[in-house]
Amino acid sequence: MTEFVRVGALAEIPEGELRAYDVPSGRVVVTHDERRLFALSETCTGHGCALADGTFDDRSDRLLCAACESVFDAETGEPLEGPARDPLAVFTAREVDGWVEISAEPVG
Ligand code: FES
Repeated sequence: MTEFVRVGALAEIPEGELRAYDVPSGRVVVTHDERRLFALSETCTGHGCALADGTFDDRSDRLLCAACESVFDAETGEPLEGPARDPLAVFTAREVDGWVEISAEPVG
């Protein structure tokens, strides 16, 4: 069974903004659109910068790294534009009674 970690209140994350939290397997960046939450490994696979400094396009569900502008699919973690070539690890994220919970380990 998947173990979840409560990381903070959903109210701390305005729609379309990014927040970073620690879970047992590393640091994750969390964001959401009006429909769902996304949680991905926070270290960009481009050159290792912090993705919490980037931006999230909540219309296309794409995550943009601020450093050298790699673009990732927030649902799959796959890089859509380089320089990053490797995907981000994807975590399961859920909201429970106003709290954000993240799977302790990445999915798959
Ligand atoms: S560190 Fe993310 S694109 Fe360069």
